[in-house]
Amino acid sequence: MLVFPLSTVTVNNMGASGKNQHYLLASRPQGELTADNFRLVDVEMPSPGEGEVLIETRYLALEPAMKGWMEARVDYVAPLEIGDVMRGNGLGCVVESNNPDYPAGTLLAGPLGWRRYLVSDLRSPGLSAVPEDVTPGAVLNVLGITGLTAYFGMLDIGVPRTGETVLVSAAAGATGSVAGQLARLAGARVIGIAGGREKCEWLVSELGFDAAIDYKADSVADRVAALCPDGLNVFFDNVGGEVLDIALDNLADRARVVLCGGISRYNETGQIPGPQNYFNLVYRRARMEGFIVLDYASRFPEAIESLTAYLKSGDLRHRETVFEGFERLPDALINLFRGGNIGKQLVAVETRADRPGNDRRDG
Ligand SMILES: NC(=O)c1ccc[n+]([C@@H]2O[C@H](COP(=O)([O-])OP(=O)(O)OC[C@H]3O[C@@H](n4cnc5c(N)ncnc54)[C@H](OP(=O)(O)O)[C@@H]3O)[C@@H](O)[C@H]2O)c1
Repeated sequence: MLVFPLSTVTVNNMGASGKNQHYLLASRPQGELTADNFRLVDVEMPSPGEGEVLIETRYLALEPAMKGWMEARVDYVAPLEIGDVMRGNGLGCVVESNNPDYPAGTLLAGPLGWRRYLVSDLRSPGLSAVPEDVTPGAVLNVLGITGLTAYFGMLDIGVPRTGETVLVSAAAGATGSVAGQLARLAGARVIGIAGGREKCEWLVSELGFDAAIDYKADSVADRVAALCPDGLNVFFDNVGGEVLDIALDNLADRARVVLCGGISRYNETGQIPGPQNYFNLVYRRARMEGFIVLDYASRFPEAIESLTAYLKSGDLRHRETVFEGFERLPDALINLFRGGNIGKQLVAVETRADRPGNDRRDG
């Protein structure tokens, strides 16, 4: 496993270099994800027709929402059916082209799915050329769904202001680490909750969080009360459950609770109790609001412009946890639910030994 800001990608304009494989949904998860929920199959190499390109996948991004698609639990996108290719965003390189606008060697990002190769006419929405001056890690992390989620959740719903106190859960994960930095850039005092000392140190020493709480070692209730004596103005929640209840118990007047995710409940199969302290929303005249990032699609360009500027100025940092090898996709998704990632969880389709050495260094 590699943990670093991903800065290179192999560019290949010599045609397909291996066999084609797909990962399919084999069974719906019952509780925790297992390797048996996925099936790796060999498939014929597709051939690009007129106007089409053949894309070789380089990196795929992993997200907790994938489990909801596999379970047919969520309703904001179509569920995956058994036998479907796993859905997912990634970064690939055009290796054969019948489209002069996208010659061999062009890097593309978007919904590639868990496929080593695919043919596209580039007319269906989602795939776009990767700008020359951004790194592949940034494209799949801060400038992908992760950064967009953090941007709209924190800035549109949380609306942190100078001097306010902001608490973020799963703060050393992909979304939380960007959301917390955006609150810092808005002038707020930011506290992150994360599992383990290494994650907490990263938040404070590299990302500029004011404090971090290691929920695996400390009492979150005691630490939140001690660190936030005047209460929380914003709570950006990725976890739900007990952490949400603790935050609700510590709200300042007019606080904003942003419901981004609830990963602590994603492995539960039965009825899950709601937060006990919700009535504090009434006493504190506070607001709790969920959101789905896809609803902001018309404003993605605005967010990408702002996030790109923060990346270039060095105000926004990011890190990727990269597993090597296409066959490790299920492990990488399972890893997210075990907290094994710092920053964005990715899979590099090739292992380092496979790479021919003509990496494009983008930043
Ligand atoms: N609303 C939207 O449109 C939207 C869009 C994208 C993502 N999301 C949500 O945002 C959240 C973060 O997603 P991400 O892609 O950025 O993943 P991520 O935070 O990079 O990875 C998940 C992290 O969650 C923590 N975690 C896992 N199981 C946990 C548990 N049982 N209790 C507490 N923490 C647990 C782990 O960190 P620790 O080691 O710190 O526990 C893990 O690293 C998820 O809830 C996701 O569903 C929402």
